Amino acid sequence: MLFDTHCHLNSDELYPKYKELIKEAKDSGVELIIVPGYDLLSSQRVLELIKEKNIYGAIGLQPEEIDKTNVNALFDLFKTVKDNKKIVAIGEIGLDYYWEKDENKKQVQRELFIKQIEIANELKLPIIVHSRDALQDTYEILKCHQPIMGGVMHCYSGPKEMVNEFIKLGMYISLGGPVTFKNARVPKEVATSIDINYLLIETDSPYLSPHPLRGTENKPSNVKLVEEEIARLRNMELDDLEAITFKNATKLFGIKYEDKM
Ligand code: NI
Repeated sequence: MLFDTHCHLNSDELYPKYKELIKEAKDSGVELIIVPGYDLLSSQRVLELIKEKNIYGAIGLQPEEIDKTNVNALFDLFKTVKDNKKIVAIGEIGLDYYWEKDENKKQVQRELFIKQIEIANELKLPIIVHSRDALQDTYEILKCHQPIMGGVMHCYSGPKEMVNEFIKLGMYISLGGPVTFKNARVPKEVATSIDINYLLIETDSPYLSPHPLRGTENKPSNVKLVEEEIARLRNMELDDLEAITFKNATKLFGIKYEDKM
């Protein structure tokens, strides 16, 4: 059984056809999916999507969306999910300095990241972290504002040397499409060296389609290609890798999954 731990069925691209995609994923062995929010609308859509069986969600403000989002309205939404068992994390949240060169705006990113970690801690939920070109600052913030229920570094692109530092802070490491890219030396090193008990897999659909589908619209059933590449790199049986990553994800997100097959 596969678990796509990061899939934007709430994106403009995928939302209109989410029912088909869920069915196709299920038919391909993807048993559970987590849909993270990134702004207000995408978080509202999460609340719709989790009405589907085996779809879980997270709500949050992704750093790139800050300028375009009604932050207060989104923060009001956090208050409504307290007893919703299918909201299993706060995310995606974090830092993205790839396009952002303005120091004041980077500071706003850091403040909103910290604020959302504090909300996750109040709600006793793990966090889903987006970090691009900002690994050191992400690490420093997590160190000073530790997520008490842990979390995941989604689509981790950092070096293998930092992996254990994040694990020490209660974080899991999730790998997606880039690990399958031919020239992706760094994620392949992470895949081979990480303690398997802290590894998750994801697609980040509709983005980052794995090889050989790179450049096309990604979908949850493609998580299989990510799994196959990691199993190949680690010289592991597919079934073993699948069982371990599935268990890791249900543990982190507190999902009591009963196999109904
Ligand atoms: Ni994402």
